Amino acid sequence: MEDVLILGIESSCDETAAAVVKNGREVLSNVISSQIAIHTLYGGVVPEIASRKHIEKINQVIEQALKEADVTLEQIDAISVTYGPGLVGALLVGVGEAKALAYAAHKPLVGVHHIEGHIAANYLEHPDLEPPFLCLVVSGGHTHLVQVKAYDSFEIIGCTHDDAAGEAFDKVARAIGLGYPGGPKIDKVSKEGNPHAIEFPRAKIAGAEFDFSFSGVKSAVLNYLNQCEMKGIKISQADVAASFQQSVVDVLAGRAIAAAKKLGEKRIAVAGGVAANSALRQRLKEECDKEGIALCYPSPIYCTDNAAMIAAQGYYEYIAGTRSGWDLNAVPNLKI
Ligand code: KG4
Ligand code: ZN
Repeated sequence: MEDVLILGIESSCDETAAAVVKNGREVLSNVISSQIAIHTLYGGVVPEIASRKHIEKINQVIEQALKEADVTLEQIDAISVTYGPGLVGALLVGVGEAKALAYAAHKPLVGVHHIEGHIAANYLEHPDLEPPFLCLVVSGGHTHLVQVKAYDSFEIIGCTHDDAAGEAFDKVARAIGLGYPGGPKIDKVSKEGNPHAIEFPRAKIAGAEFDFSFSGVKSAVLNYLNQCEMKGIKISQADVAASFQQSVVDVLAGRAIAAAKKLGEKRIAVAGGVAANSALRQRLKEECDKEGIALCYPSPIYCTDNAAMIAAQGYYEYIAGTRSGWDLNAVPNLKI
Protein backbone atom coordinates (compact mmCIF):
# COMPACT_ATOMS: atom_id res chain seq x y z
CA MET A 1 0.00 0.00 0.00
CA GLU A 2 1.18 3.50 -0.76
CA ASP A 3 2.12 5.77 2.08
CA VAL A 4 -0.69 8.00 3.34
CA LEU A 5 0.20 11.47 4.60
CA ILE A 6 -2.27 13.27 6.85
CA LEU A 7 -2.06 16.92 7.86
CA GLY A 8 -3.60 17.30 11.34
CA ILE A 9 -4.89 20.59 12.74
CA GLU A 10 -5.81 21.18 16.41
CA SER A 11 -7.15 24.37 18.02
CA SER A 12 -9.73 23.21 20.60
CA CYS A 13 -8.28 25.02 23.60
CA ASP A 14 -5.06 26.98 24.10
CA GLU A 15 -2.60 25.31 21.73
CA THR A 16 -2.47 26.09 18.03
CA ALA A 17 -1.05 22.93 16.48
CA ALA A 18 -0.38 21.29 13.13
CA ALA A 19 1.41 18.04 12.28
CA VAL A 20 2.13 15.70 9.41
CA VAL A 21 1.86 11.98 10.18
CA LYS A 22 2.66 9.07 7.84
CA ASN A 23 0.37 6.01 7.89
CA GLY A 24 -1.13 7.02 11.23
CA ARG A 25 2.01 6.10 13.13
CA GLU A 26 5.10 8.03 12.02
CA VAL A 27 5.33 11.69 13.04
CA LEU A 28 7.06 13.73 10.32
CA SER A 29 6.43 17.02 12.10
CA ASN A 30 4.60 18.20 15.21
CA VAL A 31 4.37 21.98 15.64
CA ILE A 32 2.69 23.43 18.74
CA SER A 33 2.30 27.13 19.46
CA SER A 34 1.33 27.35 23.13
CA GLN A 35 -0.65 30.25 24.57
CA ILE A 36 0.16 29.32 28.17
CA ALA A 37 2.17 32.49 28.84
CA ILE A 38 -0.73 34.80 28.02
CA HIS A 39 -3.45 32.78 29.84
CA THR A 40 -1.22 32.50 32.92
CA LEU A 41 -1.72 36.26 33.40
CA TYR A 42 -5.46 35.55 33.93
CA GLY A 43 -5.08 32.33 35.96
CA GLY A 44 -6.76 30.17 33.29
CA VAL A 45 -7.80 30.00 29.64
CA VAL A 46 -9.72 33.08 28.43
CA PRO A 47 -11.79 31.77 25.48
CA GLU A 48 -11.82 34.96 23.41
CA ILE A 49 -8.09 35.46 23.75
CA ALA A 50 -7.58 31.81 22.75
CA SER A 51 -9.57 32.31 19.51
CA ARG A 52 -7.73 35.51 18.64
CA LYS A 53 -4.32 33.87 19.19
CA HIS A 54 -5.32 30.87 17.06
CA ILE A 55 -6.25 33.05 14.10
CA GLU A 56 -2.97 34.92 14.42
CA LYS A 57 -0.80 31.80 14.52
CA ILE A 58 -2.55 29.11 12.52
CA ASN A 59 -1.09 29.77 9.07
CA GLN A 60 2.45 30.00 10.41
CA VAL A 61 2.03 26.78 12.39
CA ILE A 62 0.73 24.86 9.35
CA GLU A 63 3.44 26.27 7.10
CA GLN A 64 6.07 25.18 9.59
CA ALA A 65 4.55 21.69 9.96
CA LEU A 66 4.69 21.16 6.17
CA LYS A 67 8.22 22.55 6.00
CA GLU A 68 9.55 20.40 8.84
CA ALA A 69 7.96 17.31 7.27
CA ASP A 70 9.54 18.35 3.96
CA VAL A 71 6.26 17.98 2.06
CA THR A 72 3.99 20.30 0.13
CA LEU A 73 0.24 20.61 0.59
CA GLU A 74 -0.15 18.84 -2.78
CA GLN A 75 1.57 15.74 -1.38
CA ILE A 76 -0.86 15.50 1.55
CA ASP A 77 -3.59 12.84 1.15
CA ALA A 78 -6.15 14.32 3.56
CA ILE A 79 -6.62 17.09 6.11
CA SER A 80 -7.92 16.14 9.54
CA VAL A 81 -9.09 18.66 12.09
CA THR A 82 -10.50 18.65 15.62
CA TYR A 83 -14.14 19.72 15.43
CA GLY A 84 -15.11 19.07 19.07
CA PRO A 85 -15.33 18.98 21.99
CA GLY A 86 -13.68 22.23 23.06
CA LEU A 87 -14.13 25.99 23.13
CA VAL A 88 -16.40 26.92 20.24
CA GLY A 89 -14.51 30.03 19.13
CA ALA A 90 -11.20 28.18 19.31
CA LEU A 91 -12.50 25.15 17.39
CA LEU A 92 -13.97 27.36 14.65
CA VAL A 93 -10.53 28.70 13.76
CA GLY A 94 -9.12 25.23 13.07
CA VAL A 95 -12.27 24.01 11.32
CA GLY A 96 -12.48 27.09 9.10
CA GLU A 97 -8.80 26.82 8.20
CA ALA A 98 -9.02 23.08 7.43
CA LYS A 99 -12.07 23.59 5.22
CA ALA A 100 -10.46 26.41 3.29
CA LEU A 101 -7.24 24.43 2.72
CA ALA A 102 -9.09 21.25 1.74
CA TYR A 103 -11.34 23.16 -0.65
CA ALA A 104 -8.53 25.11 -2.29
CA ALA A 105 -6.15 22.15 -2.59
CA HIS A 106 -8.90 19.62 -3.53
CA LYS A 107 -8.16 17.37 -0.55
CA PRO A 108 -10.53 15.19 1.49
CA LEU A 109 -11.53 16.62 4.88
CA VAL A 110 -11.84 14.45 7.99
CA GLY A 111 -13.28 15.91 11.21
CA VAL A 112 -11.80 14.27 14.31
CA HIS A 113 -13.12 13.99 17.88
CA HIS A 114 -10.56 15.55 20.23
CA ILE A 115 -10.74 12.72 22.79
CA GLU A 116 -10.45 10.04 20.11
CA GLY A 117 -7.34 11.96 19.05
CA HIS A 118 -5.94 11.78 22.60
CA ILE A 119 -6.48 8.01 22.53
CA ALA A 120 -4.76 7.76 19.12
CA ALA A 121 -1.68 9.55 20.55
CA ASN A 122 -0.79 6.09 21.85
CA TYR A 123 -0.35 4.74 18.30
CA LEU A 124 2.46 7.20 17.58
CA GLU A 125 5.05 5.47 19.74
CA HIS A 126 3.67 1.97 20.23
CA PRO A 127 3.75 0.31 16.79
CA ASP A 128 2.27 -2.91 18.17
CA LEU A 129 -0.72 -1.24 19.88
CA GLU A 130 -3.98 -2.14 18.18
CA PRO A 131 -7.57 -2.21 19.41
CA PRO A 132 -9.10 -3.71 21.44
CA PHE A 133 -7.75 -2.10 24.62
CA LEU A 134 -8.99 -0.10 27.58
CA CYS A 135 -8.09 3.58 27.64
CA LEU A 136 -8.07 5.88 30.65
CA VAL A 137 -8.64 9.36 29.20
CA VAL A 138 -7.69 12.07 31.68
CA SER A 139 -7.50 15.65 30.44
CA GLY A 140 -8.50 19.15 31.51
CA GLY A 141 -12.06 18.65 30.32
CA HIS A 142 -12.56 14.86 30.39
CA THR A 143 -12.19 11.83 32.61
CA HIS A 144 -13.37 8.70 30.85
CA LEU A 145 -12.71 5.00 30.85
CA VAL A 146 -13.15 3.99 27.23
CA GLN A 147 -13.19 0.55 25.70
CA VAL A 148 -11.51 0.99 22.32
CA LYS A 149 -13.13 -1.78 20.28
CA ALA A 150 -11.73 -0.77 16.90
CA TYR A 151 -9.91 2.29 15.54
CA ASP A 152 -13.26 3.98 15.04
CA SER A 153 -15.46 2.24 17.60
CA PHE A 154 -15.56 3.27 21.26
CA GLU A 155 -17.66 2.46 24.30
CA ILE A 156 -17.63 4.60 27.43
CA ILE A 157 -17.35 2.41 30.53
CA GLY A 158 -17.09 5.22 33.07
CA CYS A 159 -16.97 9.00 33.26
CA THR A 160 -16.84 11.84 35.77
CA HIS A 161 -20.02 13.21 37.31
CA ASP A 162 -18.49 16.64 37.94
CA ASP A 163 -14.92 17.95 37.58
CA ALA A 164 -12.44 16.35 35.20
CA ALA A 165 -9.21 15.12 36.79
CA GLY A 166 -7.13 17.86 35.12
CA GLU A 167 -9.64 20.50 36.17
CA ALA A 168 -9.27 19.37 39.81
CA PHE A 169 -5.47 19.61 39.46
CA ASP A 170 -5.79 23.13 38.06
CA LYS A 171 -8.23 24.31 40.74
CA VAL A 172 -6.24 22.87 43.64
CA ALA A 173 -3.01 24.31 42.24
CA ARG A 174 -4.61 27.75 42.12
CA ALA A 175 -5.91 27.40 45.70
CA ILE A 176 -2.48 26.53 47.09
CA GLY A 177 -0.81 29.32 45.15
CA LEU A 178 0.92 27.35 42.41
CA GLY A 179 -0.85 29.10 39.54
CA TYR A 180 -1.73 27.91 36.04
CA PRO A 181 -1.36 25.34 34.53
CA GLY A 182 -1.73 23.40 37.74
CA GLY A 183 -1.15 19.78 36.74
CA PRO A 184 2.56 19.94 35.94
CA LYS A 185 3.21 22.19 38.95
CA ILE A 186 1.46 19.84 41.41
CA ASP A 187 3.33 16.93 39.84
CA LYS A 188 6.64 18.72 40.47
CA VAL A 189 6.13 20.00 44.04
CA SER A 190 4.55 16.68 45.11
CA LYS A 191 7.96 15.08 44.75
CA GLU A 192 9.04 17.02 47.87
CA GLY A 193 5.84 16.31 49.83
CA ASN A 194 4.41 13.47 51.89
CA PRO A 195 1.48 11.85 50.03
CA HIS A 196 0.13 10.48 53.34
CA ALA A 197 0.32 13.77 55.27
CA ILE A 198 -3.39 14.58 54.86
CA GLU A 199 -6.18 12.07 54.23
CA PHE A 200 -8.31 13.50 51.38
CA PRO A 201 -11.44 11.59 50.26
CA ARG A 202 -11.62 9.06 47.43
CA ALA A 203 -15.18 9.33 46.12
CA LYS A 204 -17.17 6.33 44.97
CA ILE A 205 -20.35 6.61 42.93
CA ALA A 206 -23.11 4.31 44.13
CA GLY A 207 -24.30 2.00 41.39
CA ALA A 208 -21.64 3.12 38.90
CA GLU A 209 -18.42 1.37 39.85
CA PHE A 210 -16.31 2.88 37.06
CA ASP A 211 -17.52 6.48 37.31
CA PHE A 212 -15.59 9.29 38.95
CA SER A 213 -16.17 12.42 41.05
CA PHE A 214 -13.46 14.92 41.83
CA SER A 215 -15.43 17.86 43.21
CA GLY A 216 -15.35 16.30 46.71
CA VAL A 217 -11.59 16.05 46.91
CA LYS A 218 -11.28 19.58 45.56
CA SER A 219 -13.69 20.89 48.26
CA ALA A 220 -11.85 18.89 50.92
CA VAL A 221 -8.60 20.64 49.96
CA LEU A 222 -10.32 24.05 50.08
CA ASN A 223 -11.83 23.22 53.52
CA TYR A 224 -8.45 22.10 54.78
CA LEU A 225 -6.86 25.37 53.61
CA ASN A 226 -9.64 27.42 55.30
CA GLN A 227 -9.26 25.49 58.56
CA CYS A 228 -5.51 26.04 58.55
CA GLU A 229 -5.97 29.73 57.87
CA MET A 230 -8.52 30.09 60.70
CA LYS A 231 -6.22 28.33 63.14
CA GLY A 232 -3.18 30.25 61.94
CA ILE A 233 -1.44 27.03 60.82
CA LYS A 234 1.06 27.43 57.98
CA ILE A 235 0.36 24.84 55.31
CA SER A 236 2.98 22.78 53.53
CA GLN A 237 2.30 23.34 49.84
CA ALA A 238 4.20 20.17 48.98
CA ASP A 239 2.26 17.99 51.48
CA VAL A 240 -1.13 19.31 50.33
CA ALA A 241 -0.16 18.82 46.67
CA ALA A 242 1.22 15.31 47.26
CA SER A 243 -1.78 14.21 49.37
CA PHE A 244 -4.27 15.56 46.82
CA GLN A 245 -2.38 13.91 43.97
CA GLN A 246 -2.30 10.63 45.89
CA SER A 247 -6.07 10.70 46.27
CA VAL A 248 -6.66 11.34 42.55
CA VAL A 249 -4.09 8.75 41.47
CA ASP A 250 -5.58 6.11 43.83
CA VAL A 251 -9.01 6.60 42.26
CA LEU A 252 -7.84 6.72 38.62
CA ALA A 253 -5.53 3.73 38.87
CA GLY A 254 -7.95 1.76 41.03
CA ARG A 255 -10.90 2.16 38.63
CA ALA A 256 -8.80 1.51 35.51
CA ILE A 257 -7.39 -1.75 36.90
CA ALA A 258 -10.80 -2.89 38.20
CA ALA A 259 -12.42 -2.17 34.82
CA ALA A 260 -9.67 -4.01 32.90
CA LYS A 261 -10.07 -7.05 35.16
CA LYS A 262 -13.85 -7.08 34.88
CA LEU A 263 -13.82 -6.66 31.10
CA GLY A 264 -10.93 -9.08 30.60
CA GLU A 265 -8.82 -6.39 28.89
CA LYS A 266 -5.14 -7.29 28.85
CA ARG A 267 -3.93 -3.83 27.89
CA ILE A 268 -4.47 -0.35 29.34
CA ALA A 269 -3.49 2.83 27.50
CA VAL A 270 -3.54 6.24 29.15
CA ALA A 271 -4.30 9.47 27.28
CA GLY A 272 -4.77 13.22 27.83
CA GLY A 273 -2.81 15.87 29.71
CA VAL A 274 -3.00 14.12 33.09
CA ALA A 275 -1.43 11.02 31.51
CA ALA A 276 1.81 13.01 31.81
CA ASN A 277 1.53 12.82 35.61
CA SER A 278 4.53 10.94 37.00
CA ALA A 279 2.74 9.54 40.08
CA LEU A 280 -0.13 8.20 37.95
CA ARG A 281 2.31 6.53 35.57
CA GLN A 282 4.26 4.96 38.39
CA ARG A 283 1.18 3.66 40.20
CA LEU A 284 -0.37 2.24 37.03
CA LYS A 285 2.91 0.55 36.16
CA GLU A 286 3.09 -1.14 39.58
CA GLU A 287 -0.54 -2.24 39.51
CA CYS A 288 -0.42 -3.45 35.90
CA ASP A 289 2.78 -5.42 36.55
CA LYS A 290 1.04 -7.12 39.49
CA GLU A 291 -2.01 -8.02 37.40
CA GLY A 292 -0.15 -9.03 34.22
CA ILE A 293 -1.75 -6.17 32.26
CA ALA A 294 0.30 -4.38 29.58
CA LEU A 295 0.46 -0.59 30.00
CA CYS A 296 1.27 2.15 27.55
CA TYR A 297 1.12 5.91 27.50
CA PRO A 298 2.40 8.60 25.14
CA SER A 299 5.47 10.78 25.74
CA PRO A 300 4.48 13.98 27.60
CA ILE A 301 4.53 16.01 24.35
CA TYR A 302 1.81 13.73 22.89
CA CYS A 303 -0.20 13.62 26.15
CA THR A 304 -1.13 17.30 26.11
CA ASP A 305 -2.90 18.86 23.13
CA ASN A 306 -1.12 18.38 19.80
CA ALA A 307 -2.04 17.80 16.17
CA ALA A 308 -0.05 14.58 15.60
CA MET A 309 -2.72 12.73 17.57
CA ILE A 310 -5.43 14.30 15.38
CA ALA A 311 -3.57 13.20 12.25
CA ALA A 312 -3.19 9.67 13.69
CA GLN A 313 -6.91 9.31 14.37
CA GLY A 314 -7.65 11.10 11.09
CA TYR A 315 -5.63 8.45 9.24
CA TYR A 316 -7.69 5.56 10.62
CA GLU A 317 -10.93 7.34 9.79
CA TYR A 318 -9.66 8.29 6.33
CA ILE A 319 -8.72 4.71 5.40
CA ALA A 320 -12.09 3.54 6.74
CA GLY A 321 -13.72 5.92 4.26
CA THR A 322 -14.92 8.66 6.62
CA ARG A 323 -15.20 12.07 4.94
CA SER A 324 -16.57 15.35 6.32
CA GLY A 325 -18.68 17.60 4.13
CA TRP A 326 -18.20 21.30 3.41
CA ASP A 327 -20.81 21.89 6.11
CA LEU A 328 -18.48 20.63 8.88
CA ASN A 329 -18.97 22.81 11.96
CA ALA A 330 -17.47 23.08 15.44
CA VAL A 331 -19.36 20.99 18.02
CA PRO A 332 -18.29 22.20 21.49
CA ASN A 333 -19.95 19.32 23.40
CA LEU A 334 -19.38 16.54 20.86
CA LYS A 335 -19.97 13.07 22.35
CA ILE A 336 -17.74 10.05 21.72
O1 KG4 B 1 -5.29 17.13 27.23
P1 KG4 B 1 -4.95 18.51 27.65
O2 KG4 B 1 -3.69 19.14 27.16
O3 KG4 B 1 -6.11 19.50 27.29
C1 KG4 B 1 -7.45 19.12 27.33
O4 KG4 B 1 -7.92 18.54 26.32
O5 KG4 B 1 -8.06 19.35 28.39
O6 KG4 B 1 -4.96 18.46 29.24
C2 KG4 B 1 -4.66 19.57 30.00
C3 KG4 B 1 -4.78 19.17 31.46
C4 KG4 B 1 -4.67 20.36 32.40
O7 KG4 B 1 -5.69 20.29 33.36
C5 KG4 B 1 -3.29 20.15 33.04
O8 KG4 B 1 -3.20 20.69 34.34
C6 KG4 B 1 -3.20 18.63 33.05
O9 KG4 B 1 -3.75 18.25 31.82
N1 KG4 B 1 -1.81 18.16 33.15
C7 KG4 B 1 -1.35 17.45 34.20
C8 KG4 B 1 0.04 17.24 33.96
N2 KG4 B 1 0.36 17.83 32.76
C9 KG4 B 1 -0.79 18.38 32.28
N3 KG4 B 1 -1.97 17.00 35.29
C10 KG4 B 1 -1.22 16.32 36.19
N4 KG4 B 1 0.10 16.09 36.05
C11 KG4 B 1 0.77 16.52 34.95
N5 KG4 B 1 2.09 16.28 34.82
ZN1 ZN C 1 -6.97 17.71 25.05
